[in-house]
Amino acid sequence: MLSSHIFVCTNQKSGVGEAAAKALRKELKVQGLKSFMHEGEKHHNRVQTCDCLDRCKQCKKGNGAALVVYPGGTFYGNVEPRHAARLVREHLAGGRLVADLLLPSDH
Ligand code: FES
Repeated sequence: MLSSHIFVCTNQKSGVGEAAAKALRKELKVQGLKSFMHEGEKHHNRVQTCDCLDRCKQCKKGNGAALVVYPGGTFYGNVEPRHAARLVREHLAGGRLVADLLLPSDH
């Protein structure tokens, strides 16, 4: 498990991106993954907000926000705060994609 960096679009009127980012940060703390040791090195998972990620259908038509996780550049869409625990547990801790929120890489 290595450091990940999540960028959450906050370009929705509803503010769901801010709420999703906050929920993800909280989950990192709850699941003890904000910073962690791996093979003797300290790693950090970070969540930042950003402007449009060019996946706007996910932000304008659904109830959630688009976000991207690096390394890998994995895009998720229509992410709501209620999805935060699963994203952290499955993707960051488990290294597995969360299929039902995944966006195709070419849009
Ligand atoms: S408005 Fe969120 S990706 Fe464009």
